[in-house]
Amino acid sequence: MLNDAIEKVLVSEEELKAKVTSLGQQITKDYAGKNLLMVSVLKGSVIFMADLMRAIDLPCTIDFMCVSSYGSGTKSSGVVKIIKDLDIDLHGKDLLIVEDILDSGKTLHYITKMLSDRGTASIRIATLLDKPDRRTAPLTPDYSGFVIPDEFVVGYGLDYDEKYRNLPYIGVLKPEIYGGK
Ligand code: IMP
Ligand code: MG
Repeated sequence: MLNDAIEKVLVSEEELKAKVTSLGQQITKDYAGKNLLMVSVLKGSVIFMADLMRAIDLPCTIDFMCVSSYGSGTKSSGVVKIIKDLDIDLHGKDLLIVEDILDSGKTLHYITKMLSDRGTASIRIATLLDKPDRRTAPLTPDYSGFVIPDEFVVGYGLDYDEKYRNLPYIGVLKPEIYGGK
């Protein structure tokens, strides 16, 4: 079973649900009267995006972009490749970039810089997970669900080698799965 690859559960389904609800309430307050466009960075943020947008009680639009920074390993390559760009015109939009996890920050640093050149009214970042110990780019999330230690995690959208995204919780993978000690 999928669970057998997991060493421990870091954030449970119940904790995720409660956090997403409170983030949604905060964003609802902050974005009242604004032109909210939620941008999901595929594929990892897709589950967080789907839950978060339903916790926000405001009119909003959504769009998706897909970048690649990791390949199939567990360490950042530092190279950000745009695989799918946004379709929506960003002029006057209040962008909320929705990410699964902020690690080195290289990916989001690159994306926010690129998107801010397109006439946005504002750009903020909502990340479900934050690993501040590994930050190398100057980036702080505006909304953050959980600060986690420097461990490789999967589930609730996050993958290892494209798998484990469908686990309903955030878990730490057994090191033998990715060839660790
Ligand atoms: P950054 O550019 O180093 O911040 O990389 C961020 C991206 O790396 C995330 O959007 C994830 O796709 C991936 N990533 C970083 N840490 C993990 C992890 O622990 N599990 C799964 N993916 C991760
Ligand atoms: Mg990601």
